[in-house]
Amino acid sequence: MKGIVLAGGTGSRLFPLTKITNKHLLPIYDKPMIFYPIQALVDAGIRDILLVTGGRNSGDFLRLLANGKEFGLAHLNYTYQEGEGGIADALALAEHFADGEKICVILGDNIIQGSIAAAVQAFEKQERGARILLKQVPDAERFGVAELVGDRIVGIEEKPARPKSPYAVIGIYLYDGTVFEKVRRLVPSRRNELEITDVNNAYIQEGSMSYSFLDGWWTDAGTFESLLRAANLVAETSVSKSGDEDQAAESATSAPQ
Ligand code: DAU
Repeated sequence: MKGIVLAGGTGSRLFPLTKITNKHLLPIYDKPMIFYPIQALVDAGIRDILLVTGGRNSGDFLRLLANGKEFGLAHLNYTYQEGEGGIADALALAEHFADGEKICVILGDNIIQGSIAAAVQAFEKQERGARILLKQVPDAERFGVAELVGDRIVGIEEKPARPKSPYAVIGIYLYDGTVFEKVRRLVPSRRNELEITDVNNAYIQEGSMSYSFLDGWWTDAGTFESLLRAANLVAETSVSKSGDEDQAAESATSAPQ
């Protein structure tokens, strides 16, 4: 499966942090934001990756990431989104790269604790359609929100004032080759963007959308609050991980021979 990281847009909600650099190059604890979604794809076994960038600092992505050696990749692909026509507008640029294959799309400001390998494997086996990942959150009105009837997903509302469930649709989407036809049929939303939620609703309407629940924490990092939260979550996780490793090393050295 091919992977696509969407890192276009202007990051206006983080101004003035984004006045002279791209949102996805800002630090999340000890790494630039963009490292996390790339790593999430690599950890799920995806090695053929396209990065969609945009804005005035797109050249910095190339200088930072080059061919992705730090992630164990031999090659990275890049493309450029003019303006900020929305997530689905950025995705449209990946049609040539996808070449009819199944794809895993991740938003450049989404950070997860765990792995999406199980969802990716489930989608490999899924004959057609799409798969999204849901996470229960206390502030669902900030996201796309899934409406579930029993265990069936019947619709998604983008940032509803009164969410019909606490389940946010996280920014990781698995699509079959028909996604680009669906994007072509979209019309701009009230915020004048091509919405990924409309793409997902098209799959729901044709009865080919499935979903998984994500294990571990998830956050976006596109506002001051969530940027700080992301850094704290990553820091706490890496501190507890290195604590576990220290403890394991200690018990290994103190173990009776
Ligand atoms: O974080 C998950 C949420 O992301 C979903 O629950 C929502 O359904 C989805 O619409 C999206 O919501 P946001 O309004 O928070 O997305 P935002 O505009 O912040 O864009 C998220 C990323 O998508 C951004 O970091 C880069 C990419 N993007 C966005 C736009 C608008 C692009 O590549 N190009 C764009 O034009």
